[in-house]
Amino acid sequence: MKSHAGCQPFYNMANTILVGAQWGDEGKGKIIDVLTEDADVVVRSQGGNNAGHTVFIKGQKYVLHLVPSGILRKNKVCVIGNGVVVDPVSLVGEIEGLRKLGVEIGENLFLSETAHLVLPYHRELDAQREAVKGDNKIGTTKRGIGPAYGDKVARTGLRVIDLIQPERFKERLQQKIKENNEILKAFGAKPLSFKKVHEEYRAAGDYLKPFVANTVTLLYKAMSRGDSILLEGAQGTFLDIDHGTYPYVTSSNTTAGGACTGSGIPPHRVDSVMGVMKAYTTRVGGGPLPTENAVIADMLHGMGREFGATTGRARRCGWFDSVATRHACMVNGIDDLAVTNLDGLDTLEQVRVCIGYRHEGATYDYIPNDVAILAACEPVYAEFPGWKTPTDKARKWKELPVKARSYLKAIAELTGANLAIASVGPGREQTIFL
Ligand code: GDP
Ligand code: IMO
Ligand code: MG
Repeated sequence: MKSHAGCQPFYNMANTILVGAQWGDEGKGKIIDVLTEDADVVVRSQGGNNAGHTVFIKGQKYVLHLVPSGILRKNKVCVIGNGVVVDPVSLVGEIEGLRKLGVEIGENLFLSETAHLVLPYHRELDAQREAVKGDNKIGTTKRGIGPAYGDKVARTGLRVIDLIQPERFKERLQQKIKENNEILKAFGAKPLSFKKVHEEYRAAGDYLKPFVANTVTLLYKAMSRGDSILLEGAQGTFLDIDHGTYPYVTSSNTTAGGACTGSGIPPHRVDSVMGVMKAYTTRVGGGPLPTENAVIADMLHGMGREFGATTGRARRCGWFDSVATRHACMVNGIDDLAVTNLDGLDTLEQVRVCIGYRHEGATYDYIPNDVAILAACEPVYAEFPGWKTPTDKARKWKELPVKARSYLKAIAELTGANLAIASVGPGREQTIFL
């Protein structure tokens, strides 16, 4: 008989949600990897393989898309939760790629039965919808994320639980391909072959079956044992479908609340929220970025930095925007901050921080909801003296230049949360705890 999770008391008080406090790519993967040392379980709760989380360990680079970044440490349980949208073929490729790099993946990875599937027609529709938008395109990763979440909300999606039941999967996939081929034809795109898609995805289903679990009860049991859980956010606050710069957003709730619905962990079991932010700002894709600055972008790209981990696109770059991060702090309830990429600013004479926006005579100390207004806002800057010293070798707070410390303190204060971690390089060891 299958037992229900029961109603044991919870003993653990250290479950943390980690979110991106900007537009994604804040360095979440690196910080998750560092924090996983003290966690038992790492959970992805939203997004899909649009995410690209980079971790460097002893010079080896790993880029995680669907698999939680905790997989790189031994004896950690990793969960792909119900709120994630999963392209099964992509997940198989990712697992295989990690195994080739010597990462052990077996009973340490669980995939929720109720996670929705991303299928080839979602990817095709993503590309077609972008193409018709022309100059107004979102600049998606073309991974089919929007159409897959669209099917979920319309209650027409297929889930992992369907994928692993061959007869059911075949029947539903056939119906979905028939329907979606009509839409693709209307776009003037090539229809998909059911036979080809079925063969490929059926094989992926067979491969993934051993990982499939009821992850809600699994997490409940883990919490009952006192395990500590780290929820690995994907994307960032301003890509959130509700709180981001709509329509230039992704299709999931990337903010802290989404971590609960996307995992089944009750809100009152969450002990803290950590916000990860770069010491400057980046964004990839379309939409407003008030502090965008060509000089900063050229400097960072010239150092070989700020190219997308998923699509390889050059990221747009700008000064740190404390109006944005303060808003992120409010909407996520961020307690602690991890500031990454401090070393990216090491060579500058002066460092600027946006402390407000101006638009048609009005001043804003929050992000206006109308993207047309946000796009037309003029940032108001405060200036800080540059430290003009390499920081990448610093391992302790006191080893950072005084001016770099002042800058970090100022951006944490403007954001309104406690500075807990400063990161001065991509490696695990390049991390300063305060
Ligand atoms: P994520 O999506 O939030 O996990 O971030 P990405 O991995 O997409 O992008 C962050 C990039 O910054 C990656 O290339 C990381 O290796 C790198 N990174 C993270 N922290 C630091 C840091 O403190 N300094 C430097 N130089 N690179 C960092
Ligand atoms: P991580 O987890 C940065 C952006 C895309 C596009 C918009 C919508 O690595 O921080 P989508 O494919 O989701 O429909 O694209 O969201 N985007 C990201 N930008 N980091 C990400 O993830 C992103 N995931 C999606 O560039 O602007
Ligand atoms: Mg990324």
